This record gives sequence, structure tokens and C-alpha cells, in this order.
Amino acid sequence: MATGIVTASYIIAAVLFILSLGGLSNPETARRGNAYGMTGMLIAIIATVCGPQVTSYAMLMLVMLIGGSIGFYAAKRVQMTEMPELVAMLHSFVGLAAVLIGYATYVGGTGDMEGAEKTIHEVEIYLGILIGAVTFTGSVVAFGKLRGMIDGKPLTLPGRHWLNLGLALACLWLGSSFINGGGTFPLILMTLIAFGFGVHMVMAIGGADMPVVVSMLNSYSGWAAAATGFMLSNDLLIVTGALVGSSGAILSYIMCRAMNRQFLSVIAGGFGSSGGGPVAAIEGEVNPLSPEETAEALREASSVVIVPGYGMAVAQAQNTVYEITKNLRERGKTVRFAIHPVAGRMPGHMNVLLAEARVPYDIVMEMDEINDDFPATDVVLVIGANDIVNPSAQDEPNSPIAGMPVLEVWKAQTAIVMKRSMASGYAGVDNPLFFKDNTRMLFGDAKQSLDSVLKALQG
Ligand code: TAP
Repeated sequence: MATGIVTASYIIAAVLFILSLGGLSNPETARRGNAYGMTGMLIAIIATVCGPQVTSYAMLMLVMLIGGSIGFYAAKRVQMTEMPELVAMLHSFVGLAAVLIGYATYVGGTGDMEGAEKTIHEVEIYLGILIGAVTFTGSVVAFGKLRGMIDGKPLTLPGRHWLNLGLALACLWLGSSFINGGGTFPLILMTLIAFGFGVHMVMAIGGADMPVVVSMLNSYSGWAAAATGFMLSNDLLIVTGALVGSSGAILSYIMCRAMNRQFLSVIAGGFGSSGGGPVAAIEGEVNPLSPEETAEALREASSVVIVPGYGMAVAQAQNTVYEITKNLRERGKTVRFAIHPVAGRMPGHMNVLLAEARVPYDIVMEMDEINDDFPATDVVLVIGANDIVNPSAQDEPNSPIAGMPVLEVWKAQTAIVMKRSMASGYAGVDNPLFFKDNTRMLFGDAKQSLDSVLKALQG
């Protein structure tokens, strides 16, 4: 394929990626956004495969077949609740690819480059490997934390800020040594330091702040891809990497705002552990109720708000939730959904599940849109949510989630909380909501409980 056609295809692909991002910003256009993204990627792959840079088609086809099959198999098999882990794993691949391409480019030599051109090329290699290595190990640790293989509590080594600063300075010094003809040693040492830095950075971040980590690694993987694009002189990779990098950075900012955190403080780590002082003991009694009593409460209510959380995703209860919503709306009741920005385990997790179950978008509200309406709500159904409805975020300055905005469900006339036990949520914090006078607990798997509620409503 002529270079001009490849360039034109890259421009078309880049425009489709931008349209894709635009489409994904709204549930109603998300499907179209995905279609734009897939078409853009198909054009990009065809243009690259047919482009002048490919020298061995047999090798290319082989690796594409292996990679494509693994990706296809993993995506087909993955449960919705495992999606964040899959995303973390994919980020780690981008990071590792950047490291490997960095080394391959380095081994390939600088050819006849001289002066500034050579320096720029070496900076590209150095930065590509640095960002790639941090992304790789950071994403592997994030994968372990999201999967529960690594403890969610932050690792707070003594003098960790000094350690981070020391590692950053060492990378700067090694970078200047590498560019000034230091050879392979500074590159390898920096790679090892960057691997260690990635591990330490994510280990130091507490469970409650994982949403920021996920979006931050998303951003890093974009910058790693952009750096790879510079090394390979591939314009599309640079543009795509920059799109992913900047949209991930914006998402991190949104997540920080949603959780009332400063980005730098999250990255410095240590949040998600206790604020230092003692946390007040929770007092009160738990008041359980049955599915039939829940149905009765819903029948008597005129306004209902449903708060879905991670447990709804685990139980795959979204379709039953929709059936109940339909039943209640047919009875003339006002039913709305309240979505916390970090509900579940990935950005937009609840919106995706509700859209899959065909819940109308106009009754799905963001936290800020609905939080003032709880005092005028008769019944709130909290389905497998915990941290996002924890009043201690407001009342308990020593709580690990202190300051995080939460859905104020306890202000409703009755809050019915569905979960299997008294266990804490992802942040590992006890929840005083369960002991409040106007809270009722419906224990059991959310899907089974909701099936019984629906049956009682229909009966
Ligand atoms: P969580 O606080 O994790 O609480 C979920 C609750 O669901 C658990 O307490 C669990 O209690 C219950 N549950 C689990 N399986 C269930 C089932 N089959 N049926 C009924 N209940 C079930 O969830 P949340 O309120 O959605 O808050 C999200 C948390 O995840 C926040 O801490 C957030 O920071 C963190 N996080 C979010 C993200 C993003 S981007 N959204 C990413 C990483 C981490 P039982 O075991 O007693 O049933």
C-alpha cells in the first residue's frame, strides 16, 4: 500500500477514534461510539499490515493469530464482574509492549542519526521504557488487588515519600547518563527501578482509592502507547496513545473529584487506611425483614429510589431489578436509580448493567442529581452496595473513607439494604447504616431476594 494511502487511512482511523470517545460519553450513543472505535481499529490494522514497515508477513500473521485468539477467548469468557481485572491486565500488556519495543529499538541502534536527532531518539526510548515499566508492574499489582489476591490495605513503608523521590531522582540521573553515552547499564537499572516503583506506587494506595488507580493506569497505558508510537515513527499510535492518555487523565480527575481526593495525595499513597485516631464503635440493632415484607413496603411507597452496587453485579440481578421497576411503575409509583460515580468496580459499571437490562436512561440519576431527594423518598432499595452508602464518610473523621461523598440513603423514610451478611465492602470499613432505626436488612443473594420480592409483588 502506498504511503499516502496509509497516511490517509491513519487520519480516518484517528477521526473515528475521536468520534468513538464522543459517542462513549453518553449511554444512548455508546453503542455507536463502540462501532466507530471498532471500525477505526480495523482500518488502522489493515493500513499497518499493508504498510511499508512490515517485512515478514508470516511472522505478523502468526503473532496476530496468537494474540487475537487469546484476546477473543479472554473477552468471551470474562464475567462482567471481572471486567476491571481484564482492563488492568490489558493495561499491563501495553506497558510490557512499550518496554519490549523500547529495548528492540535500542538494540536496533541509532543508524546514521546524529546530534539532536539522536538525543531525541534516545529520550523516546528511555521515556517509553520508563512509562511502560511503571504501567506494567503497577497494572499487575492493580490486577491482584482487584481480584483479591493482594490485600487492599495500603502498604505504608516508613519514609515512602523519600523513597519515591529518591527513585525519581535516580531515574533522572540514569537518563542523563544513558543519553550521554552510558550504554545499556543505565537503561537496565532504570527499568528495574521503574518496575519497583510501579509495584510500590499501587501497593501504597488503599482499597477505597482503587478507582483512581484504575483510571490513572489507563492514562499511563495511553502515554506508554504514545511513546511507542514515537519510537516506531507511527503517527496513529502517537495520536491514539495521546487520546487514551488524556482521556484517562480526565477520568482520574473526575474520580478524584467524586471521591473528594487530591490526585497527588492519592498517588503519594497511604489513603484507605485509618485516618490515625480511633474510629467510634457502631451501636444499635440490626432489623432484618423478609422479601414479602419488602414487597409490602414497596407496595405502600409512592416514591422509590434504587441504589445498585457491586453486589448487584455479582448476583447478576439487573434483569430482576428491571422487572421490579416495571411492576412498580405500572402501579403508578415514581422509581428512580441513584448511581454513585465509583459504584461497582469500574467507571460506569452500574450504567452498563442497567443499560443491558433495558432500564430507561431518564430514570437513572447521578449522585449529585438525586442526593437532595432522599428526605422525600419513601423507600430506598440498596442492592449490594456498601461503601457508597456509608454515613461514616460524613460523620467519622477517622474513617478511611472520611470525606468521600456518599448517597445519603439514611435520610429516606426507610432504607432496605440487600446483602448476604454483615461483611464490609471493598474499602473494608464497617457501615453504621445497617444499625440505623429506619434501616431494614434483607439478607441473602441479591438475585434470589429480588426474585422473591418480584414474586410477592406479582402475587
Ligand atoms: P462494596 O462497598 O464493595 O460493597 C458491595 C457489597 O455487596 C458487599 O458489602 C457485599 O456484602 C455485597 N454483595 C456481594 N455479593 C453479593 C450478592 N451476591 N448478593 C448481595 N450482596 C452481595 O460496593 P459498592 O458500594 O458498589 O462500592 C464500590 C467500592 O469499590 C468502593 O469502595 C470503591 O472505591 C471501590 N472500587 C470502585 C471502582 C470503580 S472505578 N467503580 C474500582 C475499584 C474499587 P456481603 O458479602 O455481605 O453480601
